[in-house]
Amino acid sequence: MPLVSMNELLPKAKANKYAVGQFNMNNLEFAQAIVDAAEELKSPFIYGVSEGALKYMGIEFTVALAEAAAKKSGLPIALHLDHGSSFEVAMKCIRAGFSSVMFDGSHHSFEENIRLTKEVVKAARAMGVSVEGELGTIGGVEDDISVDEENASLAKPEEAIRFYEETGVDCLAIAVGTAHGMYAGEPNIRFDIIQKVSSAIPVPVVLHGGSGVPDEMIRQAIAAGVGKINVNTENQVACTDAIREALNKDAKIYDPRKYLTPARKAMVEVVKSKIQLFGSSNQA
Ligand code: 13P
Repeated sequence: MPLVSMNELLPKAKANKYAVGQFNMNNLEFAQAIVDAAEELKSPFIYGVSEGALKYMGIEFTVALAEAAAKKSGLPIALHLDHGSSFEVAMKCIRAGFSSVMFDGSHHSFEENIRLTKEVVKAARAMGVSVEGELGTIGGVEDDISVDEENASLAKPEEAIRFYEETGVDCLAIAVGTAHGMYAGEPNIRFDIIQKVSSAIPVPVVLHGGSGVPDEMIRQAIAAGVGKINVNTENQVACTDAIREALNKDAKIYDPRKYLTPARKAMVEVVKSKIQLFGSSNQA
């Protein structure tokens, strides 16, 4: 099966009150672990690729890995640019074979964010590619993007609704209190904002910073209208913990397969638990 746009996945999720996971791909083992978990649970999913991960893997390898996963599994899989910073990067990804892009104009003024997002939507739509927009600033650290708590600002529901109406994005990430990375305590998620925005627009709200959010809060977020949830850090932690454990156990290991196999297994478990929690099993 070829890669699909998020429009093959998200309208169904919103209508049936489950969420599709965006699992970030950082290397071959991430790509394999994510698709293996989804295959076992017959779940659709989205490979998220940040600009940093794109630089690390190279655009050709990134697209080839996602296409291989779709071909091998027969699952509906979207390959999505995560936090695209410019029109140019979005177009480069589309030309290379991405089926979906995020344009993150949240650091621009509200009006400028609308203007720039509209340009991406117009070009992407012509190619059958879906677009995610962002409003408000999501805290935490992801690759080169770092937003401290003071500068993280929640989305205003009226602005989010107008942003959707003017841009026509296929899903909308709004800052509602989650952050990229792990949490020191529990996040304070504004379910009221999710509810207000989601009930006023036809497309799902996206929850970034899905790692470390307690299960009950995830269920509540989905009930309030979240239809896409992003997870990266939990897989990174599981991967690195497994590698550390393998190396600590045997200091003489030199074959990377000896420590990458347990790392991949650990990530399969993380992704399976998220798919079950998000309710997307058997929706492929
Ligand atoms: P976490 O790393 O906190 O899971 O967030 C991932 C994310 O939101 C990617 O955009």
